[in-house]
Amino acid sequence: MAEKMHLKLTVNGKPVEALAEPRELLIHVLRERLEITGPHIGCETSHCGACTVDMDGRSVKSCTVLAAQAQGAQITTIEGIGTPDALHVLQEMFREHHGLQCGFCTPGMITRAWRLLQENPDPTEEEVRFGMSGNLCRCTGYQNIVKAILAAAAELNAAKEAAQ
Ligand code: FES
Ligand code: FES
Repeated sequence: MAEKMHLKLTVNGKPVEALAEPRELLIHVLRERLEITGPHIGCETSHCGACTVDMDGRSVKSCTVLAAQAQGAQITTIEGIGTPDALHVLQEMFREHHGLQCGFCTPGMITRAWRLLQENPDPTEEEVRFGMSGNLCRCTGYQNIVKAILAAAAELNAAKEAAQ
């Protein structure tokens, strides 16, 4: 067995530490060592996006990031975006526009959409579809996911204007 490394990360704003083999995948470190189970494991081959988290300001598929690459990183998972008592507007819009069915892809979808709306706060439908193209959903046919993200962008922009 390979020697374990002492991993120090910031996850959802909190410093955390774990012992992990350098070759372990970030998704396994999050789910099994840190018990952060919002990000899901789908394909483990970088195709589905169920494991999407935010790492140092970029969306990453955490099944393609090694523990060694995540040393010192700032990670945000779905748990850091909203809570059951204080949903993020993206979560509210996914609920309102039926952007989910089984929900398996949803943590990754919302985590990716959260970064997408920071990269491009006023996207067109085409830009949403392109920006979300790394996240697959087996249930919804995507229409309502796109609607939900556009609605969230409109809400966030209206709130920003109202605050000015
Ligand atoms: Fe990582 Fe599918 S589990 S992309
Ligand atoms: Fe089932 Fe997307 S809601 S996979």
